[in-house]
Amino acid sequence: GKDLLGLAPLSADQIRLVLDTAVPFREISERAIKKVPTLRGATIVNLFFEASTRTRISFEFAEKRLSADTVNVASAGSSVSKGETLVDTARNLEAMKIDMVVIRHGASGAAQFLAERIESNVINAGDGTNEHPTQGLLDILTLRNHLGDLTGRRICIVGDVLHSRVARSNIWGLTKLGAEVAVCGPRSLLPNAIGEMGVTVFDRIEEAVEWADAFNVLRLQLERMQAGYIPSLREYNRVYGVTRARLEKAPRDILILHPGPMNRGVEIDSDVADGPHSVILDQVTNGVAVRMAVLYLLAGGKPELAEAAKKGGA
Ligand code: CP
Repeated sequence: GKDLLGLAPLSADQIRLVLDTAVPFREISERAIKKVPTLRGATIVNLFFEASTRTRISFEFAEKRLSADTVNVASAGSSVSKGETLVDTARNLEAMKIDMVVIRHGASGAAQFLAERIESNVINAGDGTNEHPTQGLLDILTLRNHLGDLTGRRICIVGDVLHSRVARSNIWGLTKLGAEVAVCGPRSLLPNAIGEMGVTVFDRIEEAVEWADAFNVLRLQLERMQAGYIPSLREYNRVYGVTRARLEKAPRDILILHPGPMNRGVEIDSDVADGPHSVILDQVTNGVAVRMAVLYLLAGGKPELAEAAKKGGA
C-alpha cells in the first residue's frame, strides 16, 4: 500500500516481509560509512506534533543512511502554532514536492486522516492511543532475534495499556504472528475493550512472571492520565513494578523490553532495565533498521533486492 498506518491492517506475511527486509539494513549502521544511495533524490518530511527522542531521531538516521533529503517540522516554530490545520500544513509541504511524511500526532487517527488527503506516502510514528507501528515492528524484530520463531511464545505487556499505542501495535502484530499475548496492570489502566483484543489478562504481576517468556514493560503515561488512575507512583511500583525480586521467582529467564522513555523506579527498576535480560537498547538499534526497511519498501524497493541495496547496488 501507499502508507504504513498500523499493524492491524497488515497480514502476517506483510509483517514478516518488513522484518526480513530490516535484517540486511541493520548492517549498514555498523559500518564506518553508514550510507547507501538507495533513496537518493527522495524528500521526506518528519512532522512531529508530540515530543519524541527515539522515533524522531531514528527515522532521521534511517532516512539519512538511505541518502534521502529530510526536513524536520515540529509544531512549535511552525505555523501550526498559529492555528494552521494538519491538512493545510501537509498540502503546503506537498506543494514543495515531497515524497513521504512521517507523522506523530496526539490524536488517534491523525495519520490515516492525512493519508486519505495527500498523495505522499504517510508513515504513522504514533497517533494518540491508536498505533505506533514501527515501534511494534522493532519490538517484534527484537523478540524474534532473541526467542526465534514467535509461534506459541508468551509475551506479556505490563503496565499502562490504556494509553498505549505501543501496546495496540504489539497486540495486533504479535497475535498475527502466532504469539500468545497477555496484558498485566491495574484495571484502571486497561482498556474497556481488552476482552475483545484476543489477549489474556493478569491482574497480578506474580501470575505474569509465572507465565511469560518476555515482558514488554510500558511507561506510565502520566501526561495522559487524569487524577485517580493510580493511587501513587510508589504504590504502583510496589504492586506492579518489574523488579529483580519479582523476576527471580520466574521459572525461566524473562526477556525485558521497554519502548522508552522509562520511568525508572516506577514501572521498571534500574537493576532490571540495566540487567542481563534487558534488550532495551537492542530495541533502539533495531528501530533504525526497521525504519530503513519501511522507507525502502514504501518507496517501491523490492524485498529481494534489499541485500543488493545494502551493498549500494540498488
Ligand atoms: N518509543 C518511543 O516512541 O520513544 P519516543 O517517544 O522517544 O520516540
